Amino acid sequence: MSDAYRPVLWNRVKYIYDAVLICVVVIYILMFLKFSPQFHDVTRTVEVSILRMRAFGSCAYLMLTFILCIGPLARIDRRFAPLLYNRRHFGVLTCIVAGIHLNYVINWYYVFTLVDTDVALLTSNVSFGQALGFPFEVFGMFTLLILVILAVTSHDFWLSFLTPRVWKTLHMGIYFA
Ligand code: HEM
Repeated sequence: MSDAYRPVLWNRVKYIYDAVLICVVVIYILMFLKFSPQFHDVTRTVEVSILRMRAFGSCAYLMLTFILCIGPLARIDRRFAPLLYNRRHFGVLTCIVAGIHLNYVINWYYVFTLVDTDVALLTSNVSFGQALGFPFEVFGMFTLLILVILAVTSHDFWLSFLTPRVWKTLHMGIYFA
């Protein structure tokens, strides 16, 4: 016996859902890049790469927050139910946006390190004993790891393979993220 799954089953609603999602993300990034410099109260202008990493980082954070709101909202008011549909694509896009954020972080802060990038990422800030300057990157790594695991296992194949109970437990990891 074997499962015959196609990678992704598309239909019109999914196309529209994804198109709207991608448009909103693009508009957010463009607006962040255009308008956020006006709110800076620093004397030196912030580098474009840093602006970009902040744009994608904050976008991923907002998307994650919104994903967590969809479930309760759909229970409170059925008009939000359509958002539940295809929520997995929302999660995968969040993972991609967070991945782009990491790409900017690495290419700005870790590109010229003498050790490997991953080693630099894990060892450049180890001030775990203090609140100010605490290595917040660890939280980002932890979150991104969860997002990647959930994105990779988001397909129906994994739902069937892992059983709905295990799959659901795994995907509750989004709350830790
Ligand atoms: C390996 C994973 C990650 C690393 C190493 C990392 C690292 C960083 C670094 C170095 C900054 C500072 C950028 C600056 O100079 O302003 C930053 C900012 C930020 N990151 Fe991440 N990040 C990671 C993952 C994430 C994820 C998964 C999210 C969201 C879900 C996220 C959200 C943010 C946000 C919102 C900011 C802007 C903070 C601010 O400007 O005050 N990051 N990250």
